[in-house]
Amino acid sequence: MAPTFPRFMGRSSDIISGHQEYLFPCVNVYYDDPVVITRGKMGRVCDADGREYIDFFGGILTISVGHCNPEITDRVVAQMRELQHASTLYPTEPQVQLAKRLAGLTPGGLKKSFFTNSGTEANETAILLAQLFTDATDVIVLRHAYHGRSALTMSMGGMAPWRVQRIPVGGISHAHAAYCYRCALGRSYPDCGVACASDVEELIQTATSGRIAAVIAEPIQGVGGYITPPPGYFEELVRIVRSHGGLFICDEVQTGFGRTGKMFGIQHWNVEPDIMTFAKGLANGVPIGVTIAREDIADAFKGQSISTFGGNPVSATAALATLDYIEQKNLVENARIQGERLRNHLLDLQKKCPAIRDVRGLGLMQAIEFASEDGTPLADETARAFEETRHQGLLLGRGGLYKNCLRIAPTLNVSAEDIDESMRILGQSLTALGG
Ligand SMILES: Cc1ncc(COP(=O)(O)O)c(C=O)c1O
Repeated sequence: MAPTFPRFMGRSSDIISGHQEYLFPCVNVYYDDPVVITRGKMGRVCDADGREYIDFFGGILTISVGHCNPEITDRVVAQMRELQHASTLYPTEPQVQLAKRLAGLTPGGLKKSFFTNSGTEANETAILLAQLFTDATDVIVLRHAYHGRSALTMSMGGMAPWRVQRIPVGGISHAHAAYCYRCALGRSYPDCGVACASDVEELIQTATSGRIAAVIAEPIQGVGGYITPPPGYFEELVRIVRSHGGLFICDEVQTGFGRTGKMFGIQHWNVEPDIMTFAKGLANGVPIGVTIAREDIADAFKGQSISTFGGNPVSATAALATLDYIEQKNLVENARIQGERLRNHLLDLQKKCPAIRDVRGLGLMQAIEFASEDGTPLADETARAFEETRHQGLLLGRGGLYKNCLRIAPTLNVSAEDIDESMRILGQSLTALGG
């Protein structure tokens, strides 16, 4: 049964005009008529005008186990009554418990954590750490990547619209993404032999000093439109990077903690990261950022550092509660099962709507890309379909360099009924694309 919401008394139009007047205009919002969310209950949200939506984007893959999930909220509130803040100057139990839990969950020898408040900070920390450990500075990143909004992480991004600064940070070389639908090398998998990864050898030899600190990559490029690499890609990329002394930093900010049907996105491939970064879904909406590293790498960060809010007892408790919930309810498996159901729906829609040229993703991280027969991105048509889903009560994500992808990411505890209902709405919304 869909939950019902009490009507909110404020009006969307007042909030939208306040937003326009008092926030930076770069804080862009979805939809011609933005949705002012006032309440959330598990997989549903409600706007200021009392309209209900199925939420299949979860505040950018962050509501992993449901809005205001009582099992998380109760523990967070209890922690707030006990101790809200101490800073990293004081060890606290939730912080240490979470670090220990992450060391046990993550693959390979990852052990020591540094806590911050966002994915941006987690990636900043990871790059600094890799540079300290390797005594090298060059960093390899991927085109179509998104790693954050600070000066460094913006420069690490691989999409022009997000790179707004006048002078980018140096020492960053952009390798080809494993974007099979739009292969930059004009090849096809598997005959290509993952040439996009092999090309990194020449990139290092020609665009860097030859010694690199790290490659940073998302297992699935989230903002890029869920670009999903084929088998063999990560193995080759990481082999080349390590042969030049570099570390592998895996940005699991979107893919972490069950989203892809495995605990971590990188576990779909046969490589172990030296450093991993987390944020978003780890604490189900409470701000958090984590950089976890092998012990020998973490120990290379000498000198002093603090993060005022990093490992905050409330955020750490939210993360522990979210991890408990994911494990107790077997949600990694649910993500795999419901992800398959979602994908089958999308493949069916593709048969009816030829403008869907690519269906990609893993688990509950699935996207569709719209293009004409010759591959021209259909951004306007995508926008129309996106607006229509909102009018029919379904919130999705939009993305990709060309803004022609719809990104789908329900909560990990989504039901089969909600998958079916949301895909019915999506199907009805595709008329603009001949669906
Ligand atoms: C893969 C990835 N890394 C890092 C970030 C930055 O995270 P935050 O917005 O929490 O700084 C994002 C944000 O969308 C992301 O998708």
